[in-house]
Amino acid sequence: MKIKNVCILGAGTLGSRVALQAALSGYKVRIYDINPTALENSKKTMAKIIDQLAKGTGLEESAGMNAIDGIVFTDNATNAVMDADLINESVLEDIQVKNQVWEMFGQIAPEKTIFTTNTSFLLPSMFAEISGRPAKFCALHFHDVFYSKVVDIMPHPGTDPDLVPLLEEFGRSLEQVPVTVKKENHGYIFNSMLMAFIGAAGKLLTKEIASIEDIDKSWMVNFHMPMGPFGILDSIGLDTAWHVTKSQPDAASQKFAALLKTYIEAGKLGEKSGEGFYKYPKPEYRNSGFIS
Ligand SMILES: NC(=O)c1ccc[n+]([C@@H]2O[C@H](COP(=O)([O-])OP(=O)(O)OC[C@H]3O[C@@H](n4cnc5c(N)ncnc54)[C@H](O)[C@@H]3O)[C@@H](O)[C@H]2O)c1
Repeated sequence: MKIKNVCILGAGTLGSRVALQAALSGYKVRIYDINPTALENSKKTMAKIIDQLAKGTGLEESAGMNAIDGIVFTDNATNAVMDADLINESVLEDIQVKNQVWEMFGQIAPEKTIFTTNTSFLLPSMFAEISGRPAKFCALHFHDVFYSKVVDIMPHPGTDPDLVPLLEEFGRSLEQVPVTVKKENHGYIFNSMLMAFIGAAGKLLTKEIASIEDIDKSWMVNFHMPMGPFGILDSIGLDTAWHVTKSQPDAASQKFAALLKTYIEAGKLGEKSGEGFYKYPKPEYRNSGFIS
């Protein structure tokens, strides 16, 4: 099967990026959202990304703007999915919302359509049945698309095995490096490693073994990295980090989640709110004297 027509569900942060990259890669793209304002904002976000790509990578601005002009932005589900060879879903990370969306698209999508989800911490088997076509259902999870160019392909036990190489090829065509998760796993590959790393840093802090700065310095110097675990947490957002940490059952995670909550209650959500473990836009770890 040759994928030509792509339908993106959810025109937020990730859906906009996947839609734009698909259009730049020559696919016919339709993007759907229930919220018309999200669709308007999505178009503006795409234009900003094209501007950055033109400055940073030499992409011709006119080619980028033509790609955006070729995308159909719609709040009409039937129109969005007509002719779709593949759906990539990026709606809210909420099991009920995703179930509603997959139940509806399972009924209105053409028979040929492959179903893929971008869920970050849920599993494809949680929506595969309700979509009505579990064999054609698989996770296809992008990261940032333009900066972190990895795509996770994670089938559930009922996925047709032939779908995996097809999605690998599709991922490569979008300039991503495909990695396959052989068994369903919350957090795929990278997020699983990241959670363990962040958890270890949180434990060092809550057990008062080392300071935030020294934990970060240790990582930055050893691995020649521009930031350590607490700088990374600030960039992820402490609210998101709290949701993930709180869902871990062990006592160390619960203790770290309780600490994160004190930051959230003080309005310190990380880089996006101007303060988290560090103050932005000029966090201490970016000072040349931080590592000395
Ligand atoms: N943001 C990222 O970097 C990132 C990376 C990997 C995976 N993800 C996953 O992608 C999904 C979307 O994340 P996001 O950060 O883009 O969220 P977001 O909040 O920016 O966008 C979600 C969009 O879904 C829309 N929506 C809500 N209910 C809907 C419905 N019933 N039908 C259609 N659209 C609906 C919202 O209007 C919104 O525009 C989540 O599952 C998330 O875990 C996000």
